[in-house]
Amino acid sequence: MRGNPEVVDYLNMLIGGELAARDQYLIHSRMYEDWGLTKIFERIDHEMQEEAAHADSIIRRVLFLEGTPNMNRDDIETGEDVVSCLKADLKLEYHVRDKLAQGVKLCEEKGDYITRDMLRQQMSDTEEDHTYWLEKQIRLIELIGLQNYIQSQM
Ligand SMILES: [Fe+2]
Ligand SMILES: [Fe+2]
Repeated sequence: MRGNPEVVDYLNMLIGGELAARDQYLIHSRMYEDWGLTKIFERIDHEMQEEAAHADSIIRRVLFLEGTPNMNRDDIETGEDVVSCLKADLKLEYHVRDKLAQGVKLCEEKGDYITRDMLRQQMSDTEEDHTYWLEKQIRLIELIGLQNYIQSQM
């Protein structure tokens, strides 16, 4: 079914952010694993799969709307220790959240309510799961100290 061209272009721009989130979680989770931080590795490995699923849904929607998915991913920021990894991931999630919100608005303006619902679902994952979890980790580190936090993630 032919989609609104502005919606298709916007979805193509969103794919880049989801692919960046996927790859940033890929490298960070493998770094955590290498550091022996099994618990946080498992969590971030799971986030990576969710970002791949987000990209997948958008790619399928673009194809359905008769567009050509753009697979260029946005740049990633790789941290060098636990805190800088968490902060880089949070920054990316805030960025994606804002882009999703603008996408929801555009879909409403163009009357594409199915795409809007898909983006709303991704916003819910972004806000209430990924972002919230990252904010909690940074708060925990402030509360109990980095050494204790790291110990809790082994
Ligand atoms: Fe996502
Ligand atoms: Fe996310």
